[in-house]
Amino acid sequence: MHLAETAADARTRARQWRRDGERIALVPTMGNLHRGHLELVSAAHRAAGKVVVSVFVNPLQFDREADFNAYPRTAERDLHLLERHGADLAFVPSAPEICPPESSAMRRITAGPLAAGLCGAHRPGHFDGVAVIVAVLFDVFRPDAAVFGEKDYQQLCIVRDLAARLGHATEVVAAPTVREADGLALSSRNAYLTPRQREQAPALYRTLQWLAEEIRDGGDDFAALGEAARRRMSEAGLRPEYVEARLAGTLQTAGPGDSPIVLLAAAWLGQARLIDNIRV
Ligand code: PAJ
Repeated sequence: MHLAETAADARTRARQWRRDGERIALVPTMGNLHRGHLELVSAAHRAAGKVVVSVFVNPLQFDREADFNAYPRTAERDLHLLERHGADLAFVPSAPEICPPESSAMRRITAGPLAAGLCGAHRPGHFDGVAVIVAVLFDVFRPDAAVFGEKDYQQLCIVRDLAARLGHATEVVAAPTVREADGLALSSRNAYLTPRQREQAPALYRTLQWLAEEIRDGGDDFAALGEAARRRMSEAGLRPEYVEARLAGTLQTAGPGDSPIVLLAAAWLGQARLIDNIRV
């Protein structure tokens, strides 16, 4: 596995691969890798002969500096895991290496209309920061495929839209959410949970499963169902931020009879903000 720390080095490697007729799949991450990330790496291997994984804690997408500073950084372990999972290149840039200067056109790339609600409404600027960094990575590697997790469903939709807007030929591949045995979606932020909170956390997914079942069974008062779902979360010790039913493709508000629907939720548990989603 090659370790690239500069954009120039990464760009040169990718260019050489393209000349050799290789397909390139990109997996963007912020490191602190877990099984969820490694499933993305496996999906990347299925999509292309050369697999690139970026590890960069992107300051542009954090709305609170304390959150950015506290984000777990485990570079050595990450590189070891990537080596073992057959990545061909790990891109671990410094901020000046990859964050475009404020004056550059790249910096004015936005997440677009799909960022308006859900997490976007609660984390101002977050998805614009994601869009800028993803656009930079697409520009460096010009990947044939880029793999994103369904765990961050709104992000996945935004990146799909971004790739189309930028005119990239990159195919955005979705990888299913990897969960713990009790249903909790794997996330770097789960490390912030106390043992007690860790026991409460699966209530997020359990509530989404309950809600999906109600809708499948013909429940059509979405407002009342949403309220009941929030109540269930609160009773389990979570502080729900939103619970919403959206159309799976466009993220528009969904109602009874719509299909396919995705149910999305975010909730606070102590210091951790947890998100999850489920298809109906
Ligand atoms: P990060 O949170 O590190 O996630 C990197 C990728 O892993 C994302 O596509 C995310 O959806 C996926 N992922 C995380 N947990 C997962 C799980 N339990 N199952 C399946 N996939 C999972 O998302 C980001 O970083 C950043 O916003 C990034 C796209 C790298 C831009 O900075």
